[in-house]
Amino acid sequence: MPFRLPTRVHFGSKTLDQLAPILESYGHQRILLVTDAGLQSTKWPGYVTAKLKDHLFEVTVVDSIEPNPRHSTIDETANLARHADIELVVGLGGGSVLDAGKAIAMLLNNEGSILSYEGKNRFFNGSAPFIAIPSTCGTGSEVTWVSVITNPDEERKLSIKGDAMFPNEAIVDPDILKTLPASLIAYTGMDAYTHAIEAYTCNCGNPFSDALAEKAISLLDNYLVRAFLNIEDTEARREVMRAATVAGMAFGNADVAGVHCLSESIGGVYDIPHGLANSILLHPVLSSHQSIINHKLSTLYTILYPQKAQSLGTEHASQAMLESILFLTSQLDIPPFSALSIPVDDYPRIASLSATNNSNGSNPRTMHKSDYLAILQSL
Ligand SMILES: [Fe+2]
Repeated sequence: MPFRLPTRVHFGSKTLDQLAPILESYGHQRILLVTDAGLQSTKWPGYVTAKLKDHLFEVTVVDSIEPNPRHSTIDETANLARHADIELVVGLGGGSVLDAGKAIAMLLNNEGSILSYEGKNRFFNGSAPFIAIPSTCGTGSEVTWVSVITNPDEERKLSIKGDAMFPNEAIVDPDILKTLPASLIAYTGMDAYTHAIEAYTCNCGNPFSDALAEKAISLLDNYLVRAFLNIEDTEARREVMRAATVAGMAFGNADVAGVHCLSESIGGVYDIPHGLANSILLHPVLSSHQSIINHKLSTLYTILYPQKAQSLGTEHASQAMLESILFLTSQLDIPPFSALSIPVDDYPRIASLSATNNSNGSNPRTMHKSDYLAILQSL
C-alpha cells in the first residue's frame, strides 16, 4: 500500500487558537461545528464558537453526535447543513464526532443518504472542507480518510472512505485532554496503541507506516500511564496526544485488523466504548496471532526495552512484548471482558460480523468466524 498523508497537521499547546486564522484562509463564512453532548459540558465548544464569532463567522453548532454515530444522525445533520448553506465543517470531539463530521462534509457535496456511499470512493464530488480537532488521545481520525458509521437496523458498522475524505487540516492541541476523564485517557490511549500495533502486525503495512507505528507504541509505553495518573503532567499529555495522531498516520497507511474487527462488531450491537473494547481484546487477539508475528513483536520489545531484550531470543522477546501489554493495561484499570456483559448466545453473531469486517483480510493470518468464536469463548 503506498504511503499518503494529505492532511496539514498543526500540533502543540494552544494550536486551537489558530483555528480562526486557518478558516479565514478558506474564504468561507458559514461554518458547521459538530461536537457531542459530553464535550458540550466542557468549555471547549463555547471557546471555539466565541473565537469564530469574534472573527465574524456564522457558526451553526450541532452537539447531538452520539457514540458509535448512527446513519440517521449523519443524514439529519447533513440535511440541516445543506439547508443552512454550510460551506465548511469543523469536527471537535473524539472519533465518533470526527467520523461524523467527515461524513457530513462529504454529503454536503453529494446528495442522498450516507448509506449510499459504503465502500471506497463511491461518491463523485469532493467533500466540503473539513477541519478535525480531536478531543481524545485515541482516534487518529484527524489524519485518515475513513468514516465509520453505525447502521442499528442491521446491527453493523459501515466504512465510508475516499481520497477526498482526508481532513484538510488537523488541529491537535494536547491542552484539550485536560478535561478528559482519566478512564477515557486510558481507553482512548489504548485505542491508539491498538491502531499502532495492528498497523505494525497486519499484512499491509509498509516501511513508513512501520516507523510511525514503532514511534507511537514507544510514546504510549512511556507516557500513557503518566497521563492517566495525572493529566496535568504537561509532557505526558503532549506525548500521548502526539502518539494518537502518529498512530492514525500509521494505520491510515496500513490497516487495523482482528482487534478492530471484533470491537467494531461489538460496537455495532452494544454501545460499548470503542477504546474499552480494544483495550480488553488486544492481548487475546495478538496472542492468537503470535506464532505468525513473533518477529514483529520481538522487534517491538527490543525497541522498548533494549537491555532486557539483549539476552532473549525472538520467541521469548515476543512473549515479553505480549506480557508488557498486559502490564500496561493492568496499570490503567482496564476491566475484564466479563464487565462488557455480552451474552454468550451472541458470540456466534459477533464472530460472524467480525469475519465480514472490511479489515478481516488484513489480519496476519486468515481469520474465519470459528477463529473469532474461539477467541470470544477463551475469554
Ligand atoms: Fe480504533
